[in-house]
Formats: sequence, C-alpha cells, structure tokens
Amino acid sequence: MKTVIISIGGSMIVPNGGPSVKFLSALKLFSEQVVNSGKRLILVCGGGKTARHYISAASEVVDSLHPEDLDWLGIHSTRLNGHLVRTILRDIAHSVVIKNPHHIPEEWDGDVLIAAGWKPGWSTDYVASVMAKNLDTGMVINASNIDYVYTDDPRKNPHAEKREVMSWEEYRTMVGEEWDPGMSAPFDPIASKLCDEEGISVAIVNGDDLENIRGLIEGEDFKGTILS
Ligand code: UTP
Repeated sequence: MKTVIISIGGSMIVPNGGPSVKFLSALKLFSEQVVNSGKRLILVCGGGKTARHYISAASEVVDSLHPEDLDWLGIHSTRLNGHLVRTILRDIAHSVVIKNPHHIPEEWDGDVLIAAGWKPGWSTDYVASVMAKNLDTGMVINASNIDYVYTDDPRKNPHAEKREVMSWEEYRTMVGEEWDPGMSAPFDPIASKLCDEEGISVAIVNGDDLENIRGLIEGEDFKGTILS
C-alpha cells in the first residue's frame, strides 16, 4: 500500500490567533478521499503562530529565555495541532500522535497516522523527512502558504524567478546550512540535507489547495515546485 507523507505548515492549521476551521474541514475531506483511494497517509503537523504567542508572553516576564525552552514551546504547539487533527480524523486515524519518527508502528488503527515535533533542534520538516527515509517513500509533500519556490524572496526582490523544478544543490546553496527557528525558508535546510543525501524529493505546494495536492498524489500535473 502506498504511503503519502505530508508536512503541514503550522501556518495552515493556526494562521493567527486560533485554528482555521476552513482548513481543518478541507483537510478532513481530503484525508478521507486519499484513504478511500487505497493509500496510507502520514500528516506531520507544524506549530504555527501559537508558540510565538507563548514565547512573547514568557519574554515579557523574564529577561532571557533558554533556546531549548523556545523549542519546547514550539514542539508542544505542534503536538497540540497534531491532537487537533487526530481529533477531527478519529474515525480513520491511528489513536496515538507519533513523536519519534524512528518508532513508526507497523500496525495502524486507521489509514492515517498523525505525527508532530520530537525534540529540540528539530523541525517538523525534519520529522517528515526522517519518516520518508525510514519508510522509503521517496517523497515528502510540504504543504505551506506558498505556491512555488522562487530563486529569492519575491516580496523583497522583484527579479526573483519562480521555479517548478529545482535541484537540491541550488536550493541548499540558496537557503544555507543553518536552521533558525524564526526563518521562513520553504523547507528546513537541515531536512533538505537529509533529503538530498537520501534521494528524497520534496514537493512544495500551497496547503490552501488540497485538490491540487490530490492531483500530485495521483501523478497528475500540479502547481508547485519539486526539489530533487
Ligand atoms: P515547525 O517549525 O516544524 O512548525 O515547529 P511550523 O509552524 O510548521 O513551521 P513553519 O514556520 O511553517 O516552517 C515549530 C518550532 O518547534 C520547534 C522548533 O523551534 C520549530 O521552529 N521544534 C519542532 C523542535 O524543536 N523540534 C521538533 O521536532 C519540531
């Protein structure tokens, strides 16, 4: 049975103050359609704005925050989102939200598995990439709020070019080696290194268009960028 892995940007689930009912409703329908077409689906949930609100509250109380504690607030926001997604997919999803990507259960109760952040220094893109390596899926779909990867930030550089295909070499040169929790790279540079080394492709697509992602899964033309 084919397994599809999607890293869902937290900005999809919690765009600002609270969860997006519109996105969650669409995600439920989409997940049902994917499993009805005979596939297994892993949804790795990002954290979104929640952690930023908690970090800013903590930083108003104390002068300096420990970097690991910033990560833990991020990790728990991904887990909260994971539980939210598991809750709406109760009838078709495994009952436990997975944290350690090296411990993926062989038997799932349902055809959807929900995962979230594991430990400080990681990202959910990295969790998804490790799962892709361990399950040998060959691909991670990264659903966030951008349509394509550009050669530079299109908000700052009017000459930035849109790409439908980009090599890992070019992408990694563009985003660098470092992972900074506040950075807005389309895909985590550390996860990119792993995917490059393991021959895993990443499809960067907009999570607002789940029909487009369904086309991608079915092998049809889709709107987005393939990093490979
Ligand atoms: P993500 O950065 O993976 O979620 O986790 P996100 O909201 O989807 O991110 P973007 O902005 O859409 O790319 C949020 C934060 O949680 C911590 C990191 O600090 C990360 O920036 N985290 C997450 C970890 O430390 N370890 C993990 O395994 C996952």
